Amino acid sequence: MTIAYLNGTFLPLEQAHIPVLDRGFIFGDGVYEVIPVYAGKSFRLQEHLQRLERSLAGIELSNPLTREAWQQIIETLIAKNGGGDQSIYLHLTRGVAPRNHNFPAEVKHTIFLMSQPFKDPEPLPGVKAITLPDNRWLRCDIKSISLLSNVLLRQHAVEVGAVESILIRDGYVTEGAASNVFIVKQGVVITPPEGAFILTGVTRDLILEVLQAANLPYRVENVSESQLRQADEIWVTSSTREIVPITTLDDRPVGDGTRGKIWQVTWDLFQAYKKKLRHLEV
Ligand code: PDD
Repeated sequence: MTIAYLNGTFLPLEQAHIPVLDRGFIFGDGVYEVIPVYAGKSFRLQEHLQRLERSLAGIELSNPLTREAWQQIIETLIAKNGGGDQSIYLHLTRGVAPRNHNFPAEVKHTIFLMSQPFKDPEPLPGVKAITLPDNRWLRCDIKSISLLSNVLLRQHAVEVGAVESILIRDGYVTEGAASNVFIVKQGVVITPPEGAFILTGVTRDLILEVLQAANLPYRVENVSESQLRQADEIWVTSSTREIVPITTLDDRPVGDGTRGKIWQVTWDLFQAYKKKLRHLEV
């Protein structure tokens, strides 16, 4: 039985209900986080909570809880769901109010968390992605629950047998429908910079950290569509999929059409980092 948390109460997921006038339901007025858990320990929790704070500031919604209180809820939820590997979905809205676009005078947040099954991703043999125009809003740095464009962009990829849409805005790569994008050219890893057009992925930041620690060359700079098409390797990254090597882009092979050497090195470094966490006493 999956245990969820709703507004102060831990309860079976099936029993978690919200009123239809919740602004999350009516307007998509809220933000969220997805936090992986390995061996009962949340992965990069402080980074996720920090991004939550930035998203809340972005939608002008106060944070109802301290970091310690969030941590306490998350740790209890992990334990109630049996520890081990899982992923925690955290969802926060501007609460229930009569339907009216402007903010209600008094906000009582809706706070919802649930555990989702999570299996350590297998290193995929290499998969397809497509490119699509980035038709999302101009605040993609906010992890908003209003995900209609992302939903459509992912759906269009899946319909042609691809795992992700890589998005292009004004001739430059932004990110994936639900992931960040990296390319490799002549041994150098490149990923677009933080800003309003991308979500600053926790996985992305960790990859940059492990590359730096291992003294592997990387750059954070804009990636043009033509650089993407001429890349030796392309990866898409997220908390749930980790580092996915894209071997076919728009029906053409990426590099030599196999998972790249730099991907392998980075994947191994990433797994080693996770392994350390698994065995860390907390
Ligand atoms: N999405 N960009 C977008 C638009 C995303 O939705 C995600 C993750 C990322 C990667 O962020 P991170 O490395 O912190 O997971 C980038 C999550 C997993 C989701 O919506 O399920």
